[in-house]
Amino acid sequence: TQMKVTKICCIGAGYVGGPTMAVIAKKNPNITVTVVDVNQDRIDAWNNADVNNLPIYEPGLAQIVKETRGKNLFFSTEIDKTIDESEMIFISVNTPTKTYGKGKGMAADLKYVELCARNIAKVATTNKIVVEKSTLPVRTAQAIKSILDNTGSDVKFSILSNPEFLAEGTAIQDLINPDRVLIGGEFEDAIEVLANIYASWVPQDKILRTNVWSSELSKLTANAFLAQRISSINAISELCEKTEANVNEVAKAIGMDSRIGPKFLKASVGFGGSCFQKDILNLVYIARSYNLHEVADYWEQVTLFNDHQKRRFADHIVNTLYNTVSGKKIGFLGWAFKKDTNDTRESAAIYVADYLLNEQASISVYDPKVPAKKMQSDLNYLNTRSVSENEQQVTVFSNPYEALKDTHAVAILTEWDEFKSYDWNKIYVNMKKPAFIFDGRNLLDKTEMIKIGFEYSSIGQ
Ligand code: UDX
Ligand code: UDX
Ligand code: ADP
Repeated sequence: TQMKVTKICCIGAGYVGGPTMAVIAKKNPNITVTVVDVNQDRIDAWNNADVNNLPIYEPGLAQIVKETRGKNLFFSTEIDKTIDESEMIFISVNTPTKTYGKGKGMAADLKYVELCARNIAKVATTNKIVVEKSTLPVRTAQAIKSILDNTGSDVKFSILSNPEFLAEGTAIQDLINPDRVLIGGEFEDAIEVLANIYASWVPQDKILRTNVWSSELSKLTANAFLAQRISSINAISELCEKTEANVNEVAKAIGMDSRIGPKFLKASVGFGGSCFQKDILNLVYIARSYNLHEVADYWEQVTLFNDHQKRRFADHIVNTLYNTVSGKKIGFLGWAFKKDTNDTRESAAIYVADYLLNEQASISVYDPKVPAKKMQSDLNYLNTRSVSENEQQVTVFSNPYEALKDTHAVAILTEWDEFKSYDWNKIYVNMKKPAFIFDGRNLLDKTEMIKIGFEYSSIGQ
């Protein structure tokens, strides 16, 4: 007889845990889902009476939280109690790149995952299914298993790998209508218990069952392939700028080949986000640890090229502004790593800003969702200059027209839709002349901008 899940606990109330559990709760009204976190502020924000002030912004999320919170979706800091009451526990904590010791700058830091496993081992008094939701290096399940199997009690744990493929900005859509759900596990029983939860809304043929290692490696591979497509088109964009080819035309032409496909071929100032760089570095690290240097070098080039692309964008701004931006004001539109999210992790904007600040530019920024405090802390985290210098050189505005007033150049770093509908005539009038636009997202209409009077440059055209 199959175990029936009535209570789920998710450890980690972040960009993955929050939206995923909200959708599981909505689609399984008979299961109580409690998301726990060590961060009291974050839990308080999830419990905010005003659902428009949740800690993360995702289109459609507020509505689902409004419908389910307090009914079968709960947010709490009572970690131990929730773990023990639940039959199934998702681990959805952060796995950042290590910033110290062995594998520094490359390997994933599994400290938070291990703490979760130890926490579960300590407090569980009944059998549990433990689900890895965080992206983890291959064979992490082994480590979790060995911690859980050595508690000295007779509580049994089944470990599943169930990587999440949602993209930020479209998280709810991706969760409700996933391309596939992947479940890796050793025992069919446990796999089916989790599969049943997804089967409430996902067709069975989209629920893939594999062994644990394939599941873990598939997640890293999917992100590596996606990132590779962006570095590939970005590499071609640089060649386009030297020839008379147009990267948009090239992307369209190759994308119509069904073997290549049209998605994920937008040339840009470089990919950001919490996953791509981290997962590739992790893949590279794992390959090297098995002495597979050709494999490691092959994938490493994807992130090296991405660094080049960000750098090249910043260089182009400096070169175009007569080789100096010292004392000049550059207006940034966008700080988030992509549109429709307030997340800034690894955003290209941070690195482009840092480079221009080294050239003594002053920067004024507008982003519809990212608070000023976040932008400053992103820059401070790089440790390139003092906190007060960052505050002095970077000014954040809540109105785009104010941000762009008296600037020498506009740099578009995020593809927010609203940027397209601005009154670009008005922006032009209030800028220093010649007025430059550096469109890092190929967002604006080139002909129109030139007609207004801008010196317009974009990626790969
Ligand atoms: C290729 C392009 O597909 C075609 O569009 C272009 O016009 C000419 O070059 P071709 O070389 O004839 O065509 O065959 P293709 O099917 O692309 O295979 C090329 C090589 O890749 C073969 O050796 C094939 O065995 C290998 N291959 C292909 C793989 O190893 N794995 C695959 O998944 C696909
Ligand atoms: C990614 C994967 O898409 C998702 O499946 C996985 O679960 C987590 O990592 P995410 O990082 O949230 O999701 O967003 P994504 O849409 O993949 O964009 C990543 C970065 O690539 C962004 O900076 C985006 O602007 C950039 N990008 C994306 C491009 O520059 N060009 C493209 O064509 C697509
Ligand atoms: P992701 O994008 O993977 O969801 P986030 O950083 O947004 O990553 O969220 C991870 C969350 O996990 C954070 O809110 C963090 O406080 C929480 N967390 C980390 N370690 C633990 C732990 N041992 N117990 C409970 N929560 C944790």
